Amino acid sequence: MSPRARRTAGLLLLAIAGLVLAVLLDRRAPPGAPPGEARDGAIVTTVTNATNATNATTTANGAGYGAATPASAPRPDPASPDPVARGAYLALAGNCAGCHTARGGVPYAGGRGIETPFGTIHASNLTPDAETGLGAWQAEDFRRALREGRSRDGRALYPAFPYTEYTRVSDADADALFAYLRSLEPARAPTPPHALRFPWNLPWLLEGWRMLYFRPARFEPDPARDAAWNRGAYLVEGLGHCGACHTARNLLGAQTGVPLGGAATPLQGWHVPSLLDGRDGGVGAWTQAETVAWLGAGLNDRAVATGPMAQVVANSLQHLVPADLEAMASYLRALPRIEAPARPARADYAPGAATLELGGRLYRERCADCHGERGEGAPPHWPALAGNRSLTMASSVNAIRTVLHGGFPPATRANPRPYGMPPAGPGLDDSEAAALMSWLRNSWGHTAPATTAREINALRPIPVE
Ligand code: HEC
Ligand code: HEC
Ligand code: HEC
Repeated sequence: MSPRARRTAGLLLLAIAGLVLAVLLDRRAPPGAPPGEARDGAIVTTVTNATNATNATTTANGAGYGAATPASAPRPDPASPDPVARGAYLALAGNCAGCHTARGGVPYAGGRGIETPFGTIHASNLTPDAETGLGAWQAEDFRRALREGRSRDGRALYPAFPYTEYTRVSDADADALFAYLRSLEPARAPTPPHALRFPWNLPWLLEGWRMLYFRPARFEPDPARDAAWNRGAYLVEGLGHCGACHTARNLLGAQTGVPLGGAATPLQGWHVPSLLDGRDGGVGAWTQAETVAWLGAGLNDRAVATGPMAQVVANSLQHLVPADLEAMASYLRALPRIEAPARPARADYAPGAATLELGGRLYRERCADCHGERGEGAPPHWPALAGNRSLTMASSVNAIRTVLHGGFPPATRANPRPYGMPPAGPGLDDSEAAALMSWLRNSWGHTAPATTAREINALRPIPVE
């Protein structure tokens, strides 16, 4: 590096360091604010908010992702000789419509505002309209956007667009995606300007961010592994952009955590587990069949996909062909296993006898009908709670949310009419809900610190999408 380049880089670093400070100060949550507010978790948090928002609409009406797929499009098929059909499939695997469709808007016509702690970033119009979409783009421009995060005019794109993962998409797949997008009906829909707060709107800041955190990459197959593992790696690390949620980010929204090692802060009030830790979200101890079923159907005898993950299943994973689900499962099951250190037994945090008695009574009155006296449930539709990871993992956030707000697994072809759980929140005050949670987390061999009324209270107001 020339001295001049070094000085410039240094200045950038300094500026960025100052901004980190600014963010830190800005991020001090107001007292009593729920832990999972959108400001936690930087860009990603919010990226996925948008995905979820769209997805929620499509799932809610039972139509799944299909609602965002134009009727005229050919049947998505990864093995078709027709690049348009292949591209349609890849667009599902990458969940492109999730972000690039405004609520109630034309599929892929963009305009959806993605809220980030830095302001709002609008997803672009991907239809082939000459003025407002990709009409004037060539295949090379599109490849560059996907793989290098630059628009046709050379402008750096915000990583709310997950090109940090899409960079691993092959040229052939990028071209197929482009062919598919070109086949759509052009929709005239100017993308609204981004509304980023100062100083985040300074273009050089994004260039600095890219210099620090983004390297265009190629997917390198591992010759020591079989074809299925490599296909799974390609999908998980590339189009599936699983790391966008499952890898921890720093305050500037860069994925600096252990890849797929779990998010540091909740996402819309949901804990995003580590895919490496079997006590969290790791599937290393699941069978291949269980993993494939969970990814494609959204549930198996051990677990139910909930919250933002339910939308990933509904809008993307359920549309993958069995061979791709098998490949993803092979890859996920072979991930290195990094177990978080076991929680130290803190007797002072254990729930008291009165709490446990209240919790047990509430369980028998309100929950046992569906989940069984012994927490055995009737899987897969009524999950067993004995040994359920949502209760045994270090974070109790996901279980609290399900108990308070109820929930549904995703509607999928394999499970078109999912059994829902009614919200228990309205009928329980904070200390009752805390007692119930404490009891659940200390029954059937589970051990955990007591849940506090404060934790319950913080999660109450976060709406479920
Ligand atoms: C998590 C949300 C999200 C997902 C998923 C997503 N995008 Fe985007 N995309 C964005 C946002 C936001 C922008 C705007 C970035 C900017 O303007 O800096 C964008 C920009 C783009 C652009 C640049 C357009 C232009 O005019 O410069 C292209 C091309 C693109 N996306 C294609 C895709 C494709 C193909 C997929 C699926 C494989 C996809 N996107 C999935 C959020 C997303
Ligand atoms: C929008 C953010 C988001 C994305 C993208 C995402 N996940 Fe998740 N994932 C979550 C959340 C939140 C949970 C916790 C809720 C649950 O268990 O369903 C989760 C849970 C999981 C679990 C644990 C299941 C269990 O019940 O223990 C697995 C496995 C998983 N995700 C795999 C994936 C894979 C593979 C991808 C990429 C194809 C992916 N996730 C993409 C948010 C996301
Ligand atoms: C009408 C039947 C029904 C009742 C009553 C019920 N549940 Fe559920 N519960 C379900 C179903 C179905 C699911 C799976 C859907 C989901 O997770 O959104 C579920 C999921 C859960 C989960 C998450 C499991 C996982 O794998 O993520 C927890 C925790 C839970 N219930 C606790 C309770 C508690 C505590 C009560 C009593 C306050 C209760 N349930 C009452 C049907 C019920």
